[in-house]
Amino acid sequence: MKITAVIPAAGSGERFGGKKQLKIMGGRPLLFHTLKPFIDSELINEIVVVVPENDMSQLSRELKSMISVKPMTVVAGGDTRQKSVFNGLKAASDSSELICVHDAVRPFVTKDLIEKAVNACRDHDGVIVAQPSTDTIKKVMEDQILETLPRETIWRAQTPQVFCKPALQEALELAEAEEIQGTDEASLLERIGYQVGFVEGSSLNIKITTEEDWLFAEAIYNRLND
Ligand code: C5P
Repeated sequence: MKITAVIPAAGSGERFGGKKQLKIMGGRPLLFHTLKPFIDSELINEIVVVVPENDMSQLSRELKSMISVKPMTVVAGGDTRQKSVFNGLKAASDSSELICVHDAVRPFVTKDLIEKAVNACRDHDGVIVAQPSTDTIKKVMEDQILETLPRETIWRAQTPQVFCKPALQEALELAEAEEIQGTDEASLLERIGYQVGFVEGSSLNIKITTEEDWLFAEAIYNRLND
């Protein structure tokens, strides 16, 4: 089965105050740490990295010097994550059967986690990595709690998210036509009736969104590289 990894890395980092995917951690841009397990996994045949339009030529050069062992394409992102993923999907080779989407800002993904999600995708239209919620989740409006959701049914979605390519393509095309913005790709498949499964992820697979997240990420990086 031919598998393409699509790595959306085209965010502007408004909540962070800069492009965190390019911020240096342990001497290399964060994006390079994220890409490493995808380069190392034999299940991944090619990598599409979606980057900010302004950084295209510089990042293309740098990434190509880093990744020589498997085909890699660098494409420009859109103004939303969903558009960036769609641009990445369009750049996947025609023979690709599964698409593995992973946020550039989750640098602690592992080869095992990627392969666990990919292998589980044999029984579903898509499979995501998720973590059981340890917090109690409230549905709110303004300053009022509307509902407490039963915690045992709540899982927090992470990436990697792996999908059969035709299903992801249909989900993204319909979302675009109907002007729907999903916060992840799985939700776009779910809404049109595809079956998306999940496997348990890791609490180290954090997403770096805020400056506080960077502190946690540095602590994790230092511990893992002791
Ligand atoms: O903005 P958010 O934290 O949801 O970003 C998740 C991932 O999507 C990041 O790796 C970011 O670089 C990427 N992204 C993108 N194109 C955008 C916005 C975000 O590729 N327009």
